[in-house]
Formats: sequence, C-alpha cells, structure tokens
Amino acid sequence: MNVPKENLSKAIIRKYRPEDREAVRRICYDTGLMGDPIDLYFGCYELFADYWMNYYTDCEPESAFVAELDGRVIGYLVGCLDTSRQEAIQKTAVLPRIRKKLFTLGYKIDRRFFKFMWRYVRTMWRNEFADEPTDGYPAHLHMNLAEGYRSGGVGSRLIAAFLDYLRANNVKGLHLGTTSHNKLAVPFYKKWGFRLVSRYPFTMYEGMVPEKIEILFFTREV
Ligand SMILES: CC(C)(COP(=O)(O)OP(=O)(O)OC[C@H]1O[C@@H](n2cnc3c(N)ncnc32)[C@H](O)[C@@H]1OP(=O)(O)O)[C@@H](O)C(=O)NCCC(=O)NCCS
Repeated sequence: MNVPKENLSKAIIRKYRPEDREAVRRICYDTGLMGDPIDLYFGCYELFADYWMNYYTDCEPESAFVAELDGRVIGYLVGCLDTSRQEAIQKTAVLPRIRKKLFTLGYKIDRRFFKFMWRYVRTMWRNEFADEPTDGYPAHLHMNLAEGYRSGGVGSRLIAAFLDYLRANNVKGLHLGTTSHNKLAVPFYKKWGFRLVSRYPFTMYEGMVPEKIEILFFTREV
C-alpha cells in the first residue's frame, strides 16, 4: 500500500548511523531485482546484502544517507566519493571475507544461489559487464526506497543531500548505473540532470521479467 504524499513529506533525511545497518540491508534485498524483491531468485539474504552493502555501510558510512519516517528507515542512498578506491577495497577486503564465509559454509545457500551464479557466469562469458564511466565522474551512488514510499519526493530529498555532500567534499562528477526496467529511476535521474552516456544489452535477468533489459549508465556534473 502506498503511503500518501502528505505523509511522505514528513520523512526526515539524515546521515546513516550504525543502528540503521539491518534496515538498509533489508531494503537492499527487498528491492534487489531492479526495484522488486529478489527472494524468488536469490534465497540468501545475508549473502546478497553483504555483497551489495558491506562496502558502503562498513567502509564508507560517512557517504551514506537514510530517509526515516515515524522512526522507521524507509529508504537509503549509499555511495562513494571515489569509485576506484571503492573498487579496490571491494576487491581486496570485502569480497575475500564474503568468499571465506561462503567456503566455510557461513551462508545458508540453496538451489537458487547456484542458478543465480550460473546466470552471472553466463553474463560474464557474454561480456556484458561494462566498465563504469568513472573518468571525470569519480563518485557513484545506489539508492532505493521501500515499496509504498516512492513517488512522494523522498528520493529527491535524498539525492539533494548527497549532491550537497559531494560539493562539500569538492567532488566534481558523479555516475550511476541502472536498468531499463527501473521504471521510476530512469525518469527520476533524467529529472535530476543526469545524462545517459551508454547503454548495453544485459541478459542476466532474462526470464525473471518479461522484457529485454539494458544496463544504462548516467553521469552528472556536481
Ligand atoms: C528511483 C527512486 C529512488 C526515486 O525516488 P522517488 O521518491 O520515488 O522520486 P520523487 O518522488 O522524488 O520523484 C522525482 C522525479 O522522479 C520521477 N518519478 C517519480 N515517480 C514517478 C512515477 N511514478 N512515474 C514517472 N516518473 C516518476 C519524476 O520525474 C519525478 O519528478 P516529478 O515529481 O516532478 O514528476 C524510487 O522511486 C525508488 O527507490 N524506486 C525503486 C528502486 C529503484 O529503482 N532504485 C534505483 C536503483 S538504480
């Protein structure tokens, strides 16, 4: 059920705190399939959230923001100031810990995990993981609002806060990736002055949604 717009205007935008960790991880999983829940296709919440969120919540929490309504976190924007640094830390610190936990059976995985990994490997073979447009646009973001809290201005207030933060840190450019299936996100980023700079066919989600998907990369001066 959608929360009325007048209630959403009461949402508070604030910096992320450690006690928000579980709430943002849950929203990440519940929006993991291009805005919809990923549970049908990826059963292990902990593994999914560790992969997507650990860098942002544990290594660069100062660049994360949340939206809170009536004491509950209803959405987040996580990001980084410098994508090359983020990628290096993800590769050398975050992923090795995840791999170790996976190989020591620390995650409860099931058939969905192996099916999903097969999709991932197939997408790699097809060379569909394109490079992000980082040149001149070093920062990036990921943002998601829980279902029911969208289209009421909360996302706009989160991104405005992040842009202020980037300016305060003297960052000049920002990029992001989304998909053609993120129906609210595409007009949202365009409205916020992002330019579509590249698009690629992406078959990893083939069969999960009825349409053909493209990865879209956007950039914006700060
Ligand atoms: C994308 C998202 C963060 C945008 O936040 P939001 O609070 O819904 O957006 P806002 O209400 O601030 O809307 C700003 C603009 O976005 C676009 N937009 C928002 N809702 C829309 C809708 N239902 N239909 C079409 N455009 C829409 C409009 O351009 C709108 O400007 P307007 O209000 O002047 O028409 C949010 O909808 C969301 O989390 N969606 C699901 C997850 C997702 O796709 N995340 C992005 C992953 S890359």
